Amino acid sequence: MKRYRHEKDILQVLLEVSRKVSSSLDIDQVTRAILQQAKSFLATDYSTLFILDDRSRQLIPIGALGFKSNQLENLTILLGWEKINAELVKTGRAMVVNETRSDFPLGAFIAVPLIKKNKVIGSLIVCNSKKAGTRFTDADKHLLYTLSNQVAVALLNAQLYKNLKDQYVRTVASLAAAIDARDPYTHGHSERVSAYAVAISTALSCTVRFIENIKLAGLLHDVGKIGIRDNVLSKDGALNDDELKKIREHPVIGTRIVHEVISTPLIIRGIREHHERFDGKGYPHGLKGKKISLEGKIIAIADTYDSLTTDRPYRRGVSAKEAVMEIVHCAGTQFDPVIVHAFERSVSRMPDVWRFV
Ligand SMILES: [Fe+2]
Repeated sequence: MKRYRHEKDILQVLLEVSRKVSSSLDIDQVTRAILQQAKSFLATDYSTLFILDDRSRQLIPIGALGFKSNQLENLTILLGWEKINAELVKTGRAMVVNETRSDFPLGAFIAVPLIKKNKVIGSLIVCNSKKAGTRFTDADKHLLYTLSNQVAVALLNAQLYKNLKDQYVRTVASLAAAIDARDPYTHGHSERVSAYAVAISTALSCTVRFIENIKLAGLLHDVGKIGIRDNVLSKDGALNDDELKKIREHPVIGTRIVHEVISTPLIIRGIREHHERFDGKGYPHGLKGKKISLEGKIIAIADTYDSLTTDRPYRRGVSAKEAVMEIVHCAGTQFDPVIVHAFERSVSRMPDVWRFV
């Protein structure tokens, strides 16, 4: 790895980081971009970003490069970074340490505070193994310090955005719970469907973003039932044609409600298409095969699995094993066989999620 040589290089790195972090509000992406630049530019073995946890008032690691993934949670304890962070919080000044400290086994390191409004809100620490024998200079420290100033703003924005999103997810979840609560037999239905949809998506190796969205789509899939009268929704006996027609409008009503606040196509499609069938005999649009979105197909299985395994006024729920058999039986008619396979994989890998006890 080549270390920087000129001012021009430094400017280049700062511009690159600035471009990456300002184009994303995703906290993981921002963190990764920062760590990668710090690590590659200073040719270090390890880099770690810490952020101040509001509750504990401790600096906790939110991302690291160069470590084994399972080491992240134990980073502060294993490597004695708590002490270094405490020094940073106290002095607010960057540190360069080239001699080996007894409380820090990794070797030479630079630690810089992330400062916002005169307060330390995090830290960026890069270090080299003893083997590498590299010494850090004051120029390295200044570079990292400049980097950290940019980082602090981007990180705070990302954190604010995350808080906003979390708040939104909580609102959505309570809205869904309120809908389920109208009918004692569907209590907790939306949350379970959401968890099942996430499990199937995981078995399909979907992206983190897809999984985030399908979680919301699962929570909201029946939100349209808000527009259906109680006497139809919780009717004990069989539904007449008019009532059935009304119930079947809920995916479209739901789409309309959600569209006011969410523009994510995946969530909209998940809600609208969760009662479509692979053979085209579903509703509201009778879409067939490839015309149905992946999200619609996933939620359809999650929804059916929960309906089968929970008690209804007119029948008792079946066991988890029977529900799996029923869904597998419907591969190619009601459900897409590819998604049914993923569902089976998920059941065998994560039986607890599917309530196999
Ligand atoms: Fe539904």
